[in-house]
Amino acid sequence: MLKNFWYACEFSSAITSKPQRVPLLNQQFVLYRNSQGKVMAFLDQCPHRGAALSLGKVENDCIRCPYHGWKFQTDGTCIEIPANQPGVPIPKKAHLDAYPVQEKYGFVWLFWGDIPENERPPLPSFPEVKNPALRSLQLEFKWNAHYTRLIENSIDPAHSAFVHANSIGSGMAKEPQLPNYEIYMEGWGASASLYYKQQETKGFFWKFVRQKNRLQIKTTRGFYMPNIIYSDSENIILFVAHVPIDDKTTISKFIQFRSFFTQPWADQIFRKFNSKVNQEDKLIVESQSPKIAPYDLTTEIHASSDALPLAYRKLRKKCLDIGWAEEPHISKLNYMNGHTLSVERQII
Ligand code: FES
Ligand code: CO
Repeated sequence: MLKNFWYACEFSSAITSKPQRVPLLNQQFVLYRNSQGKVMAFLDQCPHRGAALSLGKVENDCIRCPYHGWKFQTDGTCIEIPANQPGVPIPKKAHLDAYPVQEKYGFVWLFWGDIPENERPPLPSFPEVKNPALRSLQLEFKWNAHYTRLIENSIDPAHSAFVHANSIGSGMAKEPQLPNYEIYMEGWGASASLYYKQQETKGFFWKFVRQKNRLQIKTTRGFYMPNIIYSDSENIILFVAHVPIDDKTTISKFIQFRSFFTQPWADQIFRKFNSKVNQEDKLIVESQSPKIAPYDLTTEIHASSDALPLAYRKLRKKCLDIGWAEEPHISKLNYMNGHTLSVERQII
């Protein structure tokens, strides 16, 4: 896992004035919204005896621990220990670290890292989100897989003909060849556009997504470090935060925009369809070994259709090479050619 990035970790709509546990990067955070609507984020662990603050209460913007009632204000300072006699000073160490948070594009983004504010990589730019003609839908999916494998799967154009041969890839199943494509590097991300021959796809959506009188349709896929992917198939746009929970678990939070069937009643059809497609991916991605995408670029074999996933792997390697590997949460998994790594390099 990587440090020094803003992580999209939860939908904005999920964070209210009630404390909410948010797992991320081998840790548990507690998030809540204060009376000004600002999202607060702390580790979900009371410094007194380690109880989960998310089981506690928010009172006047402060959070009160459920175990012995210690109360912490928004900067993390403990301002009350109920069992103390009046006048007894509060230990200085009774303090929570507050994590920087911002909200954009329907997600809460938490910064995890140790570089100064002016050096932090910016959030990606998603202008489509502001288009009021599009209907948006939030979806969530849990995988027993590492987020690196999921990012690569999301931007891999070559698997649909096989993994999704009975759904979105049925049109490609007979002709799985892909054209060579160019990669556009964009700061902390990259994208590629592919032109597909328009072929009839199985299922209900086909007659709505078909572009009449056109031989080709364009699909753009991209990623943005550390955990965002997007795809734009002209009438369906998808943003996904692959939230890294631990080395074996990822929760993907999807926001899908569509320009057809924009009525709310159609949401359930799209939920069902996305769930089917994700189930198809799940079987394969959870089978991959090693769990974590290799650090060494020569460990696995790359074909020309892997250009975009390979661009991700290269950018991730660059982050690891500049020392942005996560340090405090040491993974026991080896990911470099099966060799044992030094402690510093075991983390991704
Ligand atoms: Fe939180 Fe004791 S564990 S107040
Ligand atoms: Co897939």
